[in-house]
Amino acid sequence: MCGIVGYIGSREAYPILIKGLKRLEYRGYDSAGVAMLQDGNITLIKEKGKVSDLEGLASSSNKSGSLGIGHTRWATHGPPNQVNAHPHASQSGDIVLIHNGIIENYATIKSVLTSKGYIFRSDTDTEVLVMLIEEIQKNEKCDIAKAVRLALNEVTGAYAIAVFSKKEPDVLIGARKGSPLILGIGEKEFFLASDASPVIEYTKKVVYINDEEMVVLQRNGEFELKTIQNERKTPYIQELELKLEAIEKGGYEHFMLKEIHEQPKSIYDSVRGRVDIENGKIKLGGLEEYENRIMNSRRIIIVACGTSWHAGLLAEYMIEDLARANVEVEYASEFRYRNPVIDKEDIIIAISQSGETADTLAAIEMAKKQGCLILGICNVVGSSIPRASDAGCYTHAGPEIGVASTKAFTSQVSVLFLVALWIAENKGTLSKSRIQEYLTELELIPSKIETILSETESQIKAIAKEYKDASNFLYLGRGYNFPAALEGALKLKEISYIHAEGYPAAEMKHGPIALIDDEMPVVFLVNNSSAHEKTISNVQEVAARKGQVIAIANKGDKVIAGMAKHVIEIPETEDALSPILASIPLQLLSYYIAIERGCNVDQPRNLAKSVTVE
Ligand code: G6P
Repeated sequence: MCGIVGYIGSREAYPILIKGLKRLEYRGYDSAGVAMLQDGNITLIKEKGKVSDLEGLASSSNKSGSLGIGHTRWATHGPPNQVNAHPHASQSGDIVLIHNGIIENYATIKSVLTSKGYIFRSDTDTEVLVMLIEEIQKNEKCDIAKAVRLALNEVTGAYAIAVFSKKEPDVLIGARKGSPLILGIGEKEFFLASDASPVIEYTKKVVYINDEEMVVLQRNGEFELKTIQNERKTPYIQELELKLEAIEKGGYEHFMLKEIHEQPKSIYDSVRGRVDIENGKIKLGGLEEYENRIMNSRRIIIVACGTSWHAGLLAEYMIEDLARANVEVEYASEFRYRNPVIDKEDIIIAISQSGETADTLAAIEMAKKQGCLILGICNVVGSSIPRASDAGCYTHAGPEIGVASTKAFTSQVSVLFLVALWIAENKGTLSKSRIQEYLTELELIPSKIETILSETESQIKAIAKEYKDASNFLYLGRGYNFPAALEGALKLKEISYIHAEGYPAAEMKHGPIALIDDEMPVVFLVNNSSAHEKTISNVQEVAARKGQVIAIANKGDKVIAGMAKHVIEIPETEDALSPILASIPLQLLSYYIAIERGCNVDQPRNLAKSVTVE
């Protein structure tokens, strides 16, 4: 949550900050602000709402300066208004700071500072930190870098910050603990950002700042990396592989639609190089080192949040079904606080698109202390979860910018399917020929998705028009289709604000059936599977109560055609892979319903893509 950008060099900072903030807006869009330094004066401009609102406000102001910081906020402490927007200034106005994270002991520090005469203007924890830096600098009579370092030793919680002082116009400081921060290194210029997207068009040289590290960046091109305990570190400079096109809309109206259409490629990229059909083998280089430990583990515990949790639920079905290994799936937030019985016999698989989700990160830190092996399945290279894991696999879906996850989900499922097959191969629970069949089918998934996209999109647009005013939706499926139903319901909720519930189709009669009347759309996933007949019985139960059945079914399914109001046809595939195909029409349905309702698809209200607070 919250995106931060900083610049020091010889260019104008404002355009770099604004462009960067627009790219980081997926991290929060409650308010935005910038601060630039020019001729010893700080220009501070901030506004409630989106970066475009900030631009509107800033249009008539002087925005010059080649040192600056910018922030886009997802509110934690204090409502999303202009006063609470970042940057926050110190009492004297000499120091400005932006922050992503939560300062947990802010109340104690605030009361000490208040007793010393500091007057707080906002409700934020961030303002406390900038005031503390000023107080320390006053007492220690030190430079800004030392004051920041000492202040960070007094705070508990999570932070990624960028800060500068008008008294030291050639210095920009960044630091992190628990929230991501990247340093981009150009020719006598530096960039700080929450991820690589604001940096990519200026430089490919980056340093991923580690927890409790800070960088002191000088305008003359020199910089220092050290810990907040003042220990110097040698920066590990890496080359970014990200391409600019990957973070632009490429002609699509929304990132979400672009990302839905990218799925044939993102799945292909996730699977590429990991499959050897001829020999019926799966190559997961990231896991090989721990093969024995994984195969001999007592239990695999999957921890994740949101959409990644749905991928985790599918992984449980796949690993138990194909590899006969014992799996549990946990919401990371519950797992970390419920005192679970775990030890070194257990393997943790943490699934996360961003690799930054605070609860997932905390869950794996907790499991690590109990001796568990930690495997990360993440999309963002170099993010915190892969770095905190012992081993793992990247999903290679490419940058996902739409807040509602689409291509990251199907890539996660594809990679987890490979993990299931890899365990099955090693444990000998599937024959070589069966593995070959599965792998062959996996390779066909991208082209089957192409077919779904080209054949169903206009039909789904029409269905969306018909149901755009519904106030509730039910999504039902059995077996592998149940997690897919949960994900379909989540997509609709997230971007159209229609209440939607996913349920195991057979459980419907234990409650949700009471909701069904002639106005209730019920999306059934009836494709494929041994559960087809049973699911059809559930469709009948809904149809008998005049529910509006929208079915996702396989081509040529005559049984469902006679019962459902709408049938969206998808190609057949293996049971375990059917959720990937079923997800495509579900994503399109939620997208087009949200469009019909005039919702902001890429930036749904109250949500953020990367949830770095508990
Ligand atoms: C947020 C996002 C979801 C995402 C979840 C977990 O809620 O809006 O789309 O599924 O976080 O994020 P992760 O990055 O850990 O997959």
